[in-house]
Amino acid sequence: MFWGSDFAFPIDEHKTMLQDSQRLAAYKKSMKDKVDGKTIIDVGAGTGILSLNALELGAKEAFALEEDFSTYNFVNELIDFPIKDKRLHMINASSFDFNHPITPDLVVSELIGAVGPEEGIVEAFFDLKEKYSSIREFIPTKLDVCYSFFHSDTVESDFESTYQVFSSSLPYLTTENKKELFELMYGQKFLFTEFKEKYVAIEEGICVGYDLGISQCSNFRVSLQIPNKANTLSLFFKVTLDQDQQIILSNCPGSSLHWRTPYLRIPKGKNKAIIEYKHKNNFFFIEWK
Ligand SMILES: C[S@@+](CC[C@H](N)C(=O)[O-])C[C@H]1O[C@@H](n2cnc3c(N)ncnc32)[C@H](O)[C@@H]1O
Repeated sequence: MFWGSDFAFPIDEHKTMLQDSQRLAAYKKSMKDKVDGKTIIDVGAGTGILSLNALELGAKEAFALEEDFSTYNFVNELIDFPIKDKRLHMINASSFDFNHPITPDLVVSELIGAVGPEEGIVEAFFDLKEKYSSIREFIPTKLDVCYSFFHSDTVESDFESTYQVFSSSLPYLTTENKKELFELMYGQKFLFTEFKEKYVAIEEGICVGYDLGISQCSNFRVSLQIPNKANTLSLFFKVTLDQDQQIILSNCPGSSLHWRTPYLRIPKGKNKAIIEYKHKNNFFFIEWK
């Protein structure tokens, strides 16, 4: 028994993911007719839930790769499933270092960040496809990073109250244009909400789309014209688990999935947003013009 720390992927995150029944049902449905008799790789296995579901649905073997030792160890000690004997291989490794001589048929994974590519699904799937030519299918097959411009009174009042707190608590913020500066800095920060309030979408679209297993790198840069009256820009994912059955997960505003929707408050007087993502540093850069 090893006792480790839990900084990489806290256990309460796994609790939240296990409680997201909509997410798990969608994965199960998309695996249903695909995994029988197949060898699967589950990238970023966490609790191993996707591997266990695949084995219940008849998969021949599941290689459950988890790079974080403390998560791997916690789960490996706990699982006492009949399936554990031969068909489930819990492996403490990053998919990028995994080179076992196997012939996998299918890769399943939920390395999906709140905007989409931040957990590295694009690069991980491409790397596995390069290493294992036997792979015929990926779940999910497609990841789109989407945007929505809208107006929200709550975003405005949250900004005003944050500004008041900063302004009254930090007396050294005394430059003449401090509100303007504060607005610009505030506009660089992703905020997160479930968007339970009413909001009026003004314009929606796709920043970038990745074909998983084919797209090599998730870096992107887009320039978006800000529509009149919009004070909020939300960025979110749309993930296609199964194209034919149209099984899609999205944390668009109003969604009931466990991922909250990332959004940015648009500084006043700006009419262009430039959004850049660099996978290497896992970095989003937002410029307002
Ligand atoms: C979002 S969780 C998903 C857990 C589980 N598959 C589920 O659906 O509940 C992602 C997990 O992937 C692990 N991880 C991230 N990148 C990885 C990689 N390239 N190889 C192996 N594990 C990875 C993280 O440590 C984390 O535990």
